[in-house]
Amino acid sequence: MTNAHLNIVILAAGQGKRMRSAIPKVLHTIANVSLLERVVNTALSLNPQKIIVVCGHERETIQSTLAHLPVEWVVQEKQLGTGHAALQAMPHVQSDSKTLILFGDGPLISSDSLQAVIQSTPKNGTALLVADFKDPCGLGRVLRDNNGLFLRIVEEKDASPEELRLKEIFTGIVCAPTTQMEQWLQRLGNHNAQGEYYLTELPSLALADGCAVTTVRLQHPQEAQGINDKKQLAQQERYFQRSQAEALLLQGLTLRDPNRFDLRGVIQFGVDVVIDINVILEGKVRLGDRVQIGANTVIRNSIIGDDVIIKENCIVEDSHIDRNCTVGPFARLRPGTVLKERAGIGNFVEVKKSTVGVGSKVNHLSYIGDATLGTDVNIGAGTITCNYDGVNKHQTIIGDRVFIGSDTQLVAPVTVGAGATVGAGSTITKDVPENQLTLCRKQQVVVENWERPQKEEEN
Ligand code: UD1
Ligand code: CA
Repeated sequence: MTNAHLNIVILAAGQGKRMRSAIPKVLHTIANVSLLERVVNTALSLNPQKIIVVCGHERETIQSTLAHLPVEWVVQEKQLGTGHAALQAMPHVQSDSKTLILFGDGPLISSDSLQAVIQSTPKNGTALLVADFKDPCGLGRVLRDNNGLFLRIVEEKDASPEELRLKEIFTGIVCAPTTQMEQWLQRLGNHNAQGEYYLTELPSLALADGCAVTTVRLQHPQEAQGINDKKQLAQQERYFQRSQAEALLLQGLTLRDPNRFDLRGVIQFGVDVVIDINVILEGKVRLGDRVQIGANTVIRNSIIGDDVIIKENCIVEDSHIDRNCTVGPFARLRPGTVLKERAGIGNFVEVKKSTVGVGSKVNHLSYIGDATLGTDVNIGAGTITCNYDGVNKHQTIIGDRVFIGSDTQLVAPVTVGAGATVGAGSTITKDVPENQLTLCRKQQVVVENWERPQKEEEN
């Protein structure tokens, strides 16, 4: 249900100089989703009436990359500070609402924490989200009086050495009734070390008006860590991955080492699935019961059936693997691969846009592309489907129970009839009849009385 009384403003106009990157800061990603998209998704979970994103630096790139998001874009022409950025959004918010301000570079804030801020917002005043940081370096510090009552926020660059020792920081997240928020934002000054209009001055203006300022303290401070440089980006990626892995462990997934597992997307999994170290899962991945995934394997947008074993060092992409198949080690399943029940793909085998039938085996050093293999086919080591003539791709059809000898080239388009045997080393350019032995190979010759050359004796 939409919360008609909530508007959310997300600030994303800054350049992000400290990232030292040509990509705008908020388009950097955590687990393949951009920082800004993560903040928008969390904002959406609160069902606000409106989400307004303030952008400026590289705004065309940001807007076109994130055009699918249901937000209203507002421009801050010059980056004059966080308070100035928020002010640009105010003509677009509804006056009879609360406005919640978020930063586009704080992607991991949870919706529970935001709910707490919204609920703590006084009718006549503002609520701030604060946190205790072990290392508060670079952040705005919260100053309090001897009774612990909120006084003001001081930015690092304006703080005295004593103030710099404070560990309580402002997360940047603030909520207030919209009309009050707008008045305070209009009154912000820029008499500070950076000559910017700071959002952090807002609570001081509220206090000066005799309004209440409530602070809500984060239970997990790391949620609020903003991302200003690549070190913080890496830290937040690890924090995100660790939290995700712990949740999966509690849902019954076995991860040999939760610190060496990356999920950049969503998984569904059955019982007793075991994932070894350094596995990366991307997009949508579905794992059946008792699936085992070996170390250093990457699986992207694929469906894996019950009892499948994927051994070490495999790459599986846009593929569908039925139950009881075995893959790898060192196999590459490219988009459009379908392995039917009990199929086996061995080491150094590449499969693309092909179906491997029930119980069929491609065990060593092969390329199977644009092919359909029936049931119980055996493809010998080093077999290649020559599917590409330099212009077009062609199909290879292999019937049930076919045996292809090692080092065979199947020049497509070509069909091998059911039950056929192809002799090793053949280059097959014409259709092969059912149940016969077909081979295409020069006769072996023996050169009699031939002698191997000898090395001349050196003296
Ligand atoms: C800000 C806060 C600081 C807080 C910290 C939390 C201010 C002045 N400081 O510092 O108190 O502890 O976040 O992470 O608010 N932005 C604009 N337009 C601008 C400037 C910034 O849209 O003119 C956006 C940025 O794109 C960014 C966000 O506002 O998403 C925060 O700006 P940033 O420069 O990263 O502020 P911090 O120095 O981290
Ligand atoms: Ca920041």
